[in-house]
Amino acid sequence: QEAHAAEMERTFIAIKPDGVQRGLISEIISRFEQKGFKLVAIKIVVPSKDFAKKHYHDLKERPFFNGLCDFLSSGPVFAMVWEGEGVIKYGRKLIGATDPQKSEPGTIRGDLAVVVGRNIIHGSDGPETAKDEIGLWFKPEELVSYTSNAEKWVY
Ligand code: TYD
Repeated sequence: QEAHAAEMERTFIAIKPDGVQRGLISEIISRFEQKGFKLVAIKIVVPSKDFAKKHYHDLKERPFFNGLCDFLSSGPVFAMVWEGEGVIKYGRKLIGATDPQKSEPGTIRGDLAVVVGRNIIHGSDGPETAKDEIGLWFKPEELVSYTSNAEKWVY
């Protein structure tokens, strides 16, 4: 278990300006932390609109792209990297469906959000985007490696 810790899967998770403004940071961290995932990087930042466009570049053809980038850059974003077995896919499960009206109760968006344009949280949707998004938001030295005491009981 020590040996594979270095290659453990990582994902990029961000609390959007609405989630920060509503005071949901600790609630959201708790869900990932209590599940057994490990927080390896955090920062709070107001992204520029250009930066928001880079983050959402895959959606640039969509009609909501401009409004989405305005929204992301409208206030502080709480950016995180979480680590753990299956964290990319399961992180999306914790978050719930894109449209909070379709997110199951028990998920972050299902429990805490109402409309798609204010769905409070972002999570990478696959290994490629996780790698790209972590690289966009964080410098390699901002990610820490450590062994948490919980790990020997989680894995
Ligand atoms: P998307 O990557 O499709 O969803 P997810 O965040 O679940 O990975 O879309 C990115 C964000 O764009 C989404 O979280 C909210 C916003 N959005 C809209 O405002 N309107 C829409 O119709 C869609 C699909 C997304």
